Amino acid sequence: MERGRKIVNRPRVGIVGASGLVGRTLLRVLAERRLPCRELRLFGLRAVGRELAFGARRLGVEAFEDARPSDLDLLFYAGPAALARERLAAFVEAGVLVIDKSSVHRLDPSVPLVVPELNAAALGQHAGLVATPNCTTIGVVLALAPLVALAEPDAIVVTTTQAISGVGREALEAFRAARGAAERRPGSVDGDVWTHCGALDAEGCSEEEHKLRDESRKILARPALALDATTLRVPVEVGHGASLWLRFPATLARGDVCAALERAPGVVLRTDAPGQAEVAGRDEVLVSRVRTRNAEGGSVVQLFCAVDNLRKGAATNAVQIAELLLSGPSSE
Ligand SMILES: NC(=O)c1ccc[n+]([C@@H]2O[C@H](COP(=O)([O-])OP(=O)(O)OC[C@H]3O[C@@H](n4cnc5c(N)ncnc54)[C@H](OP(=O)(O)O)[C@@H]3O)[C@@H](O)[C@H]2O)c1
Repeated sequence: MERGRKIVNRPRVGIVGASGLVGRTLLRVLAERRLPCRELRLFGLRAVGRELAFGARRLGVEAFEDARPSDLDLLFYAGPAALARERLAAFVEAGVLVIDKSSVHRLDPSVPLVVPELNAAALGQHAGLVATPNCTTIGVVLALAPLVALAEPDAIVVTTTQAISGVGREALEAFRAARGAAERRPGSVDGDVWTHCGALDAEGCSEEEHKLRDESRKILARPALALDATTLRVPVEVGHGASLWLRFPATLARGDVCAALERAPGVVLRTDAPGQAEVAGRDEVLVSRVRTRNAEGGSVVQLFCAVDNLRKGAATNAVQIAELLLSGPSSE
């Protein structure tokens, strides 16, 4: 397959996992941004036969197992990882361009892992499949990129505070049901901070912590980036937060750090201290609480960032990738 191939103008588009949290957000973002498409097909499992809103229209959900690659030019994948592993190769081989939101292909060296504001050029290397990063990674790398461009940090410590919707629709529904209960129990989704996101490995690290480091290294093209993370799940519906601590051997002035963040595409620098849920519904990463201090001949920089995990952390990033891959003008 020709590398970097564009998608035909006005493609036939499919969404797998259309009824899920990311899938529904994709439907909203596709309608808002008016991605020109000839046809839009929705695929799922339990939602088959249901209708979902797409702008003013309603579209029915079809069984993904019946989807034929020959009916599609572009496929947004927002289903479970195991299914991506099983089914996506057949679509790619048949010439469908697949934009994958799952974690399966992100670290495959032959698959571009793209945040358009940072490494759109990597799209020139795609061979039919483009991966979009973990929702937390997207927020963190957009805040990190302008800082690592100023000077090379020798240590980065990230502590995340991730929303419940990052786990998917069932977890969000359980959270909403539990929130109605009178008692807040330790260990429950609504009454505690979970000190892990997913299973822990033999070293005590969660998969989410590995993803944040490894995906950031790939997107920023810094294979040795010294990033250590602790990922936490907090009782917030939408909006992932992250506290960043960076140590630089060079001395950095706070004014230069703020100016770099102000110039950074996809970032809004706030001088107040917004709560992380304030980012819900926005496509930019909110950066706040910027602090610098001189330390041992260098500088320490600290900040807080927040991203809407369903929009820029998932759907908007995928749609931006599709827009860059369209062969013709984006107006209908
Ligand atoms: N939530 C986030 O913040 C976020 C951010 C970035 C990436 N992601 C990734 O995006 C993907 C979707 O996440 P989500 O949060 O939207 O999950 P979700 O709310 O749990 O939705 C999962 C979707 O997958 C579909 N699905 C499950 N099994 C299927 C099958 N066998 N065939 C067809 N469709 C099937 C479901 O369809 P039915 O309802 O029809 O069964 C549902 O629409 C995951 O890979 C996740 O890791 C999530």
